[in-house]
Amino acid sequence: SNPVLIAPSILSADFARLGEEIEAIDAAGADWIHCDVMDGHFVPNISFGPDVIKAVRSRSKKIFDVHLMIAPVDAYLEAFAKAGADIITIHAEAGPHLDRSLQLIRSLGKRAGVTICPATPENIIEQVLDRVDLILVMTVNPGFGGQSFIRSQLEKIRRIRAMIGDRPIRLEVDGGVNPETAALAASAGADVLVAGSAVFGGRTIESYRANISAIRAA
Ligand code: DX5
Ligand code: ZN
Repeated sequence: SNPVLIAPSILSADFARLGEEIEAIDAAGADWIHCDVMDGHFVPNISFGPDVIKAVRSRSKKIFDVHLMIAPVDAYLEAFAKAGADIITIHAEAGPHLDRSLQLIRSLGKRAGVTICPATPENIIEQVLDRVDLILVMTVNPGFGGQSFIRSQLEKIRRIRAMIGDRPIRLEVDGGVNPETAALAASAGADVLVAGSAVFGGRTIESYRANISAIRAA
């Protein structure tokens, strides 16, 4: 299969130097920039909103892969699109009108993603496969970086890979990814790997480069 893409999560970055951190992971080989938006309602943590994404947009030309852990969703989609998101991913659990929300993302000219929590069976997304460009499988319960990879999700990843078939949909895995779990996720069918704490540990561009390479090579 094609080599996996690496999407470092800026939730684990130094928020006091977020622009510099994004430049650093860009230079260190990040393929995408994963932006974890948390509202303190859908998940028990608050991170940042569209104004922060707008503020750092100019610091990298790489894809801004925006993961919205918010509910309700629709009212905020235009703000994230205008802020510079390239992919906007929403939780299937965030509300009753997933099909409409995904259509709205595409109507804003952005790529649409759907994501599900560990306890959510994959059949919840079987009716929206033609509405998405990305499926994001959570391998931790959303809300925090630095958690452990939930290995029971590997079978779900395999089933979703089969569900995708030959559709032009990327499969992204998010949570607890490190060189060991990256190998498991990739062999189960992941195209894109999110990694926060496993990338940002060392706080130097050299450590970022080494960490990204170690995950990619897994
Ligand atoms: C969790 C976020 C993940 C998290 C990844 O709610 O969606 O992207 O920041 O961080 P690590 O790689 O440390 O689990
Ligand atoms: Zn995420």
